[in-house]
Amino acid sequence: MLALSVTGKQRFAYGFWRYREGDLDAATEMLSLVRKSGIDHLDTADIYGGPGGFGGSERLLGAIRARAPELFKGAVIATKAGIEPGSPYNSAAAYLSAACDASLSRLKVERIDLFYIHRPDFLTHPAELAETLDGLVSSGKVDAVGVSNFTTAQVAALAHHMKAPIAAHQLEFSAAHVAPLYDGTLDQATEHGIAIAAWSPLAGGRLGDDGAPEFAKVRETLRQIGKRNGVSPTAVALAFVQRHPALVTPILGTTTPDRLRDCLAADALSLSRADWYAIVEACLGQKMP
Ligand SMILES: NC(=O)c1ccc[n+]([C@@H]2O[C@H](COP(=O)([O-])OP(=O)(O)OC[C@H]3O[C@@H](n4cnc5c(N)ncnc54)[C@H](OP(=O)(O)O)[C@@H]3O)[C@@H](O)[C@H]2O)c1
Repeated sequence: MLALSVTGKQRFAYGFWRYREGDLDAATEMLSLVRKSGIDHLDTADIYGGPGGFGGSERLLGAIRARAPELFKGAVIATKAGIEPGSPYNSAAAYLSAACDASLSRLKVERIDLFYIHRPDFLTHPAELAETLDGLVSSGKVDAVGVSNFTTAQVAALAHHMKAPIAAHQLEFSAAHVAPLYDGTLDQATEHGIAIAAWSPLAGGRLGDDGAPEFAKVRETLRQIGKRNGVSPTAVALAFVQRHPALVTPILGTTTPDRLRDCLAADALSLSRADWYAIVEACLGQKMP
């Protein structure tokens, strides 16, 4: 069974996109903090690892496992395939099967807990993709499958052909990116019991003090709500993502221990309707009708 960590209200995943293969000490220290804080869902992808570093993040996780296997006890590892440098997308059967084997080897595991298709490949028929994914599940190489950055129609077409359920959809959702409220992906998730993993829940840092000018209004709204509730704007931004009634798990991307503590403060915050909608309005730049 999947997959995404839900322990009471503690509901985060931790992502390794921003690490390079050589960041062994820093990544080990952060993983230790992450696990101590109760996060057991770890997110990576074969493409992560920096420019020219294909596989680097998975190799890093494999190296941490070799050095500190206890950090992986009870952890759920999610990885992704389907972005092929130069293609740019490939979900053909032979490509994905080889990609899955390579991920298993780099991660030093016998089974991947959650295997995502990173981006939709327009040139692979969903029936072919479904057969590949079902094959990976039935062979025991993969426990659960997910998709990332799919449209609702792409999810439906794949689900139509699959025997195994689509367990998770990983997509961009934050106080700076509310498109999933309107594009049907979150509604589809509630309809079919698909868990949502939200990437860049802090807009990749663009909600921070030196962030992008176009998010000034969102930033100010987060600041005011945070001030009233005695927490940081970061915690408010994450509580915003978690407040949606779909099962939404923000994937934290910070590489800074102090900021991780800041993020975790979101757990103690339950946003009021008025505050939640105020953030949506600040992002859209207009009042709700
Ligand atoms: N499926 C996909 O297509 C996809 C795409 C992107 C990401 N992901 C996944 O989602 C995970 C999280 O994405 P993300 O790293 O973009 O998450 P994020 O939490 O939105 O952004 C983290 C980045 O923002 C910076 N940051 C956070 N708060 C800040 C502040 N107040 N001021 C300045 N900088 C701040 C962090 O810097 P510090 O490190 O210094 O704290 C870090 O560089 C990734 O690791 C990956 O696993 C998936």
